[in-house]
Amino acid sequence: MRRGFAVSAAVIGLVLLCSAYGFAAHGEKRPEKRAILLAAFGTTVPEAQKTLDQVTQRVRQAFPGVDIRWGYTSSLVRKKLAKQGKVYDSPETALSRLMDEGYTHVAVLSLHTIPGEEFHDLNRNCKLFGQMAGGFDRILVAWPLLSSHDDTTRAATAVLKHIPRERKPQDAVILMGHGSEHHPADAMYSAMNIVLQEMDPNVFIATVEGYPSLEDILPKLEKKGARKVYLMPFMAVAGDHARNDMAGDDPDSWKSVLKKKGYTCEVVLKGTAEYPDVVDIWLDHLRSAFAHFN
Ligand code: CO
Repeated sequence: MRRGFAVSAAVIGLVLLCSAYGFAAHGEKRPEKRAILLAAFGTTVPEAQKTLDQVTQRVRQAFPGVDIRWGYTSSLVRKKLAKQGKVYDSPETALSRLMDEGYTHVAVLSLHTIPGEEFHDLNRNCKLFGQMAGGFDRILVAWPLLSSHDDTTRAATAVLKHIPRERKPQDAVILMGHGSEHHPADAMYSAMNIVLQEMDPNVFIATVEGYPSLEDILPKLEKKGARKVYLMPFMAVAGDHARNDMAGDDPDSWKSVLKKKGYTCEVVLKGTAEYPDVVDIWLDHLRSAFAHFN
């Protein structure tokens, strides 16, 4: 009995020791090395790339001394950039490098807006990196932008603050969200709509690929009697969707559809990652992930 206790105590002690020092294979002791991996869809639009660079700055200020890497989830974006000589890793390639370089603790920040398919894919692969032999001692994926009611309220408050000052209260604002086939996550846009409408009844959110669509919003917009509509992206960067599907001149762009219905349109080409108070939400999610390392 006593001996059994001593053995278990020794085993527990050893387990604690191993987790504290991060023993790798063959009992090699490895020092704790922390990194942050920023993951985003990626963009080929140079202005949008600048936005992502600004995010790096913010993360660097918030986590001085921690190494920061990027991973772009879109292979199409990575291929296009590679042709211009700009080589970007996928999150998985970036993680392999970090693993190879002996990092022990990695916090991954998903710069996605909702916890949709891309977020879940990222989360799944990141977890696998924590299970590999010689993998990370800890790897945690921080939540994307809208992950709670508090996030939704903060994001809505922040975005409303950045509506151009010239907008009059009777002018409507439509935010363009991406939308997702991942329905539970897509419902975040409906939640966002309720919060926005409570704060300002002339502000709506609609999505490109989810619910509500622009068509779903149009009858509600009509009831408000606005003649002018401000269009703003509700995606991390003002990339392809914002520039073409929202603000483009094609007959099926949101701007064209609204103009055809008699509205005058003002477009704002700024992604949510350009708003410091929106980036604060992402940073808080990263801080929560980091808190688990201590
Ligand atoms: Co898309």
